[in-house]
Amino acid sequence: MSGRGLSGIVVPLLEWYAGHARVLPWRNDPTPYRVWVSEIMLQQTRVEAVIPFFERFVAELPDVASLAAAGEERLMKLWEGLGYYSRARNLHKAAAVVMKEYGGVLPKEPEALLRLPGIGGYTAGAIASIAYGVAAPAVDGNVLRVISRVTGSREDIAAPAVKREIEACLKRVYPEGRAGDFTQALMELGALVCLPNGAPHCGECPLSGPCAAYRQGVQAELPVKKAKKERRVQRRTVFLILCGEKAALRKRPEKGLLAGLWELPSAEGALSERAAREWLAEQGAAPQPLERLPDARHVFTHIEWHMTGYLARVPEPFGGYVWAGKEELRGVYTLPSAFRAFLKIYGERTGNGPESACGK
Ligand code: ADE
Repeated sequence: MSGRGLSGIVVPLLEWYAGHARVLPWRNDPTPYRVWVSEIMLQQTRVEAVIPFFERFVAELPDVASLAAAGEERLMKLWEGLGYYSRARNLHKAAAVVMKEYGGVLPKEPEALLRLPGIGGYTAGAIASIAYGVAAPAVDGNVLRVISRVTGSREDIAAPAVKREIEACLKRVYPEGRAGDFTQALMELGALVCLPNGAPHCGECPLSGPCAAYRQGVQAELPVKKAKKERRVQRRTVFLILCGEKAALRKRPEKGLLAGLWELPSAEGALSERAAREWLAEQGAAPQPLERLPDARHVFTHIEWHMTGYLARVPEPFGGYVWAGKEELRGVYTLPSAFRAFLKIYGERTGNGPESACGK
C-alpha cells in the first residue's frame, strides 16, 4: 500500500463531508479539551449515547483546570451511565499532568499526547488533527475498514504492523489546512456509509470510484480480521482461610499471570468438598468444617478463571502463609481484583469479629 494510492480519496471525501457531516456538539467548537473529552467518551460508547453526557460534562467542567480540580466523587457522578470508569479516572489524572507540565493546555504533538494517561494512538491523532490541524491520522476500526476496502487490502487489520502501515500511508496524504476535517471525514464515512458486516452503502459512497473492493465486488469480504484466540478457561479452587480475623495469603510466582502479587491460597481444578478438605490437610491444616462459597469468575486478556470457593476457619496458623487482617489487606498487601468476590466475603464475615489470638 502506498500513500500515492490514497491521494485520490482526499478531495471526494472532503467534499462529501462538507455536505454530510452530522451536527455534533464537539464539532461546533473543537477546542483541544472538548475534542479530548469527546474522544474518550466515544471510545466505548455510541455517538447518540455520548451527546447528553458530553454536554453535561463540559457545562460543569469546561476546561482542563476545572477537570483537574473536580472531586473524584463528582467526576464519577458525571460519568455514571457511561461505564468503563477507568476512562474518567485517566482523564482526571491526565488533567493534573496537563496543569502541571503544560500550563493547562493540552500539547499538540501526538508524541506528547501519547504520554498522558488514557491517550492512545487513535485519541492522540484525533486531538492533534481535529483541534490543532496537525497531519496525524486517527485510525480506529472504522478507518481500518474504509482503507482496507479502498485499497482492496486483504491484510489482517488486527495486526499492529498493518495498522502502522495504514497510519503511515494516510499521514502522507493529509491535506494541508484540512487535517481535522479529513480525520473526521474518514470516521464519518466509516460510521455512515462504509458499514461493517457486509452492509456498506456503496451507492452513496464518494469513494466508490477509487475503491478497489467496490471495483472487484469484494467489499463484503473486507476487511480481513483474524479471530482472536479464544481465552483459555482455568478452573481453580480458592480458599478463604480465616484464623480469627486474619486471612491466609501467599505470594504468586515472580513470573507469569499476576506475577509477584499476593493472593488467597488456591488449588488447580474445581475441587469437591472432600478434595478441598484433603488439600487443606496436605497444607498442614487441622481438620475443620468447610463452607462452600458462591462460584466466581475473572476474565483476563487471554485466560478466564472459573473459581470454586471455600471458607475454612482454623484455630491456629499453618502452612507458611502470611496472615493478614483488614488493615493490612487495605494498606499493605495488594490483591488483584480476580479475588474481589472472596475479599468481599472476607469483609462481610469479619465485620466486627473478635480479634484472633493467632497470627499476631
Ligand atoms: N467516533 C469517534 N470519534 C468520533 C467523532 N469525533 N465524531 C463522530 N464519531 C466518532
